[in-house]
Amino acid sequence: MNSFPKSPGIRMAPSLLAADFTRLGEHVDEIERGGATVLHLDVMDGHFVPNLSYGAVVIEALRDRSKMFFDTHLMIEEPKRYAESFVKAGSDLITFHIEVVKHPEAMVAHLRELGVAVGVSINPTTPVSAIESIIDDVDLVLVMSIWPGFGGQKFMPEVLDKVVELKKRLGPHQRLEIDGGIGPKTVGLAAKAGVDTLVAGTAIFRQPDPVAAMKQLYSLAVDAVGEAG
Ligand code: DX5
Ligand code: ZN
Repeated sequence: MNSFPKSPGIRMAPSLLAADFTRLGEHVDEIERGGATVLHLDVMDGHFVPNLSYGAVVIEALRDRSKMFFDTHLMIEEPKRYAESFVKAGSDLITFHIEVVKHPEAMVAHLRELGVAVGVSINPTTPVSAIESIIDDVDLVLVMSIWPGFGGQKFMPEVLDKVVELKKRLGPHQRLEIDGGIGPKTVGLAAKAGVDTLVAGTAIFRQPDPVAAMKQLYSLAVDAVGEAG
């Protein structure tokens, strides 16, 4: 079923962008066995962001070997044109960027028709007001804490004000995700501000033991909010 998990609590969403691309399948197996339930999949088109990553064929190939929730982050100029292919490839949630969508209500309706959970993302300088017309109709809001396009960038703490604002604004079944520069020094700040889904690429896959790194980040996040899991 493609409904977004409604359980409360903090989850790590490892981003495959920082993985060794010759070993994607092994990385996926490893983090899933290590307890990951969400996999963050970064799709870039070289237009909305100045980089290319991978597309639906890679997601489809990974779908066969994983039960994780596939959280697909579309950093592309024409999300409506390609959404169906990412749903068919096995995405459980599709996040589009508000900055490129002229008719956000129609985009949300399109994704609902495709039977996929819906996320909307805002860039570091995009205000929360930009998503006002659809905020109650999405399953997840993704706050970018870097300029999208590349992993390994420095966390922008100024976006945490938007996290605090969104945390107050969103309902109990809506998820709040952050993406970019999440590591041991920043994961607690994000969790404390109200994020429940924490994307991390470099801080997981570029570490000698990705599973240990993921578990450490999770513990730091949980400690920061003082909850049991
Ligand atoms: C970048 C992507 C991120 C990226 C994060 O545009 O959206 O998901 O993988 O990488 P780190 O965790 O290295 O900042
Ligand atoms: Zn991402």
